[in-house]
Amino acid sequence: MSKIKSVYYCQKCGFESVKWLGKCPSCNEWNTFVEEIVSKDRKNTFASVKTDKIKLLHEINVCEQERFVTKDEELNRVLGGGIVPGSLILFGGEPGIGKSTLMLQTALQNKWRVLYISGEESEQQILLRAKRLPYQNKECYIVNETVIQNIIPIIEHIQPQLVIVDSIQTLTTNLLESAPGSVSQVRECTAEIMRLAKTKNIPFFIIGHITKDGTLAGPKVLEHMVDTVLQFEGDQHYLYRILRTTKNRFGSTNEIGIYEMQGMGLRQVSNPSEILINHREEDVSGVAIASVLEGNRPLMIETQALVTTSAYATAQRSSTGFDLRRLAMLLAVLEKKYGLKLYQKDVFVNIAGGLKVEDPATDLALAVAITSSNYDIPISQKFCFCAEIGLTGEIRPVNRIDQRISEAEKLGFQKIFIAQNNFKSLTEKSNKIEIIGVNKLEQLFQKLFKG
Ligand code: TYD
Ligand code: MG
Repeated sequence: MSKIKSVYYCQKCGFESVKWLGKCPSCNEWNTFVEEIVSKDRKNTFASVKTDKIKLLHEINVCEQERFVTKDEELNRVLGGGIVPGSLILFGGEPGIGKSTLMLQTALQNKWRVLYISGEESEQQILLRAKRLPYQNKECYIVNETVIQNIIPIIEHIQPQLVIVDSIQTLTTNLLESAPGSVSQVRECTAEIMRLAKTKNIPFFIIGHITKDGTLAGPKVLEHMVDTVLQFEGDQHYLYRILRTTKNRFGSTNEIGIYEMQGMGLRQVSNPSEILINHREEDVSGVAIASVLEGNRPLMIETQALVTTSAYATAQRSSTGFDLRRLAMLLAVLEKKYGLKLYQKDVFVNIAGGLKVEDPATDLALAVAITSSNYDIPISQKFCFCAEIGLTGEIRPVNRIDQRISEAEKLGFQKIFIAQNNFKSLTEKSNKIEIIGVNKLEQLFQKLFKG
């Protein structure tokens, strides 16, 4: 007879303990242990190991699994070319970012037999959402169910080609008595889904919520269990959403997908640079275009700066989309090496479009934008910049320069300013865009502002 047992789980990392602990020995967090009732018989059964399951590597039959190529280019790209049959894909993102919308869209866009399991929204709500989307699929089944044991027969009955679970935090298993969304429930349900996916060779998308600090709610173990982890990011106030892979057993994790939230669902943005740059009638000061890489994708983004005389004793520095400490470093370099008097000025910088950039190749454009605003001299919209700035004021090369230049060329820029040292890594010489190598900031500023 199975006895009711309780186990304590760290809600942060999933560490298991038989007694309550104040501090988790695994992730060092305090007060994260919660008691969860486990009524399952937790005996190990070693007796039934089948030796015929063991194979030599070369004996394994090669069966090239064909991926399901979706109609959504961006999704295909982040998944590494399509959905691998039998794969388990965790799809995380903050509430309201558009996870359910993207998943429903995927269910309707592709003419497969799809099962959409929703524990969050009623059938009516899903129907209302589906009506907003410009896609239709006659074989999209919707079921409101949260108990995993009831879901299994539904899957067997429908035999879907794709299953979407919205969301893992609402699922529960009969075997455990803890609350939905708790570590043991999330883990057990994911394990059950994993077994289903692998035995029936059906791909599963599992939607997972993200906690305030940006990690997937539920334990880290969840990420270890699944094949692919996708994250949906973006600012609620902006329309752009970025789909990122943080783990992929079947492809690279460097790819990103870009979407725009519209009244009719999420639209794929295949040429993001065109939207991220404001095309103005005339040149304005304080704006410079940078060529950055997001994952493997080159993007042209607009960096903006406003430099004004400070009304207070301590000047303000404010930054949106760019690291504030890196901005402080850039300002110090401009001040010390180029003699810009910025200590009495307020400096505000912004990356247009609500993007957050970490690529150091943004440095040069931002330094140019700041100087341009300071002197109130505009930079031509046909110029773009792509280099890192070192502490000594030297212009440093960046990676994948060829890719960045060809993107700039594609978008019709006339000149791109790169580090002189970057010329070495150039393989193809382009003729449409003029590539200008720069060694020192002074040299560049001389060209741009004193010419
Ligand atoms: P949703 O997919 O419900 O987010 P999540 O599942 O990640 O919590 O997205 C909800 C938001 O998207 C909501 O604010 C409304 C907006 N939205 C649109 O702007 N256009 C649309 O066509 C749809 C369906 C939703
Ligand atoms: Mg949702």
